[in-house]
Amino acid sequence: MCGIVGYVGPRPSQDILLAGLARLEYRGYDSAGVAVIDGGGSLGMRKKAGKLAVLRDSLADAPLPDGSTGIGHTRWATHGGPTDGNAHPHLADDDKLAVIHNGIIENFSALREELLADGVVFRSETDTEVAAALLGRAYADNGGDLQLAFRSVVNRLEGAFTLLAMHEDHPGLVVGARRNSPLVIGLGEGENFLGSDVAAFIEYTRKALAIGQDQIVSITPDAVTVMDFAGTPVEPEPFDVSWDAAAAEKGGWSSFMAKEVAEQPEAVANTIRGRIKDGQVVIPELEGLDELFIGINRVIITACGTASYAALVGKYAIEQWARVAVDVELAHEFRYRDPVIGADTLVVSISQSGETMDTLMAVKYARERGARTLSICNTQGATIPRESDAVVYTHAGPEVAVASTKAFSAQITALLLLGLHMGRVRGAVADASVDVAELAALPEKIAKVLESEHEHVTQLAGWMADTRSVLFLGRHVGYPIALEGALKLKEISYIHAEGFAAGELKHGPIALIEPGQPVFVLVPSPRHSALVHSKVVSNIQEIRARGARVIVIAEEGDAAVLPFADEVIHIPLAGAMFEPLLAVVPLQIFAMALATAKGLDVDQPRNLAKSVTVE
Ligand code: F6R
Repeated sequence: MCGIVGYVGPRPSQDILLAGLARLEYRGYDSAGVAVIDGGGSLGMRKKAGKLAVLRDSLADAPLPDGSTGIGHTRWATHGGPTDGNAHPHLADDDKLAVIHNGIIENFSALREELLADGVVFRSETDTEVAAALLGRAYADNGGDLQLAFRSVVNRLEGAFTLLAMHEDHPGLVVGARRNSPLVIGLGEGENFLGSDVAAFIEYTRKALAIGQDQIVSITPDAVTVMDFAGTPVEPEPFDVSWDAAAAEKGGWSSFMAKEVAEQPEAVANTIRGRIKDGQVVIPELEGLDELFIGINRVIITACGTASYAALVGKYAIEQWARVAVDVELAHEFRYRDPVIGADTLVVSISQSGETMDTLMAVKYARERGARTLSICNTQGATIPRESDAVVYTHAGPEVAVASTKAFSAQITALLLLGLHMGRVRGAVADASVDVAELAALPEKIAKVLESEHEHVTQLAGWMADTRSVLFLGRHVGYPIALEGALKLKEISYIHAEGFAAGELKHGPIALIEPGQPVFVLVPSPRHSALVHSKVVSNIQEIRARGARVIVIAEEGDAAVLPFADEVIHIPLAGAMFEPLLAVVPLQIFAMALATAKGLDVDQPRNLAKSVTVE
């Protein structure tokens, strides 16, 4: 939510800021803005409601004088609608000081009252302008020392924030701070960068430093200093970014989503790589951490949205292989009740971004209650892994489209690996060779689904472009995939969609079935359980009898479903726990093709942002 970029160095900063914002636009696209200190030492600013393109056009029509110090922002609106006035940067100190912000300042009302009483006139409805005005006042109180003033301000703020500021009296200096919101440093040669994530500066450097919770950073062209909110110097943690700028480009695809769907075989292969040894799953990051898995009597997997559906698949796999009870909790619900957790609980969090505020807070809460914590994350240097006892990274590469696809597949893969790893450590799996072979075969099978079903599913979506509602049914590990299929469709095509456990249908939702209602049904292989298979076939008959149009996803050769299906999408044969990774692919393609048929922007759906860093 909100993308932030800062630059100091010898180059004209506007191009660097705009390139960084383009890569961060997935974080929010309600408005965009930049502020620059020009060669003459004056601060200039431009901000526009709408996508980054609107700002670009405005700068092309009437360029700002350029300079080598700048900050830029792309917004997902929280306080105040998406207008020019509410866009960032916000200015103070007679427009000599510029501030950008990601997060929510929870005590902003009290601070605003205080500033109003002091005669401050606000030009926006945002909490950010309150921080800017506070900084303007502190700057004067601290004799023009920007770093000191900035530290005094962040100590007064409550909530979640990443803040960047610069003042025209200090060209070549950008200060930043973070609490529960992301900010990383990019190290260049004679230039330095700040960004919400490494995508902001990946074109210029792959050397990065992570900034911890409640820390302040100052960058100049030649130096980076980090301190905590009390002013004690801190050594930031270096990390190298394992992907390059090309990985975050569209590269000839019609959309990032299309590219990312196609990248799933690679995302899964990269997540497995280096984690199979002598026919067993051995996750090197978890070596020496067996105590995380022994002596626990419960696992809670916590996540939001798509990641929570991956978690549901993980529940089935971990229970089967590691023989320990697993619950899945939506992160935002988990923390606001009084869950029974303690030292015998392992809390596994899943997050593509590693910055989702709800999930981060759940992890912190679990740690405070003495639980062991492990995160599954796709983003190096992110906050959630750093707040956890251990991390298993997914290696899906950067995911830019707002709707998650390849990260979902990588998350399920990581959970399967974790289940087999735990099963071995706990002595619950005697021989994992069949499952390990299934894992290793996944990338090729996913590639096969992409190749064999892409055209068929795209055609199907084209026929259904006027559909107003689609239902998805699944049982066992097909249930989370039904939920994910429905979420993908809602997110990018704005069509009403619901996923149900197939067995739940006759307890209510079957009332929704009327003649012509499209229903996707995920049919598990009869080889895994003839009983579960036959139950799903019965569910199909129940909805067919009421006129539903049934689109079945079933394994190749499943003849039992043919008489009852209007359309059949085939997936290759796979073990029970591995089917979800194949069955989800046609559903992703369907959502994408249907949204495209409706002329919608599949990468940047309305009202959404990729990284949800506010609660
Ligand atoms: C849906 C989607 C979201 C995210 C959710 C969690 O396509 O992307 O539902 O899965 O916001 O995000 P992360 O995984 O970054 O914690």
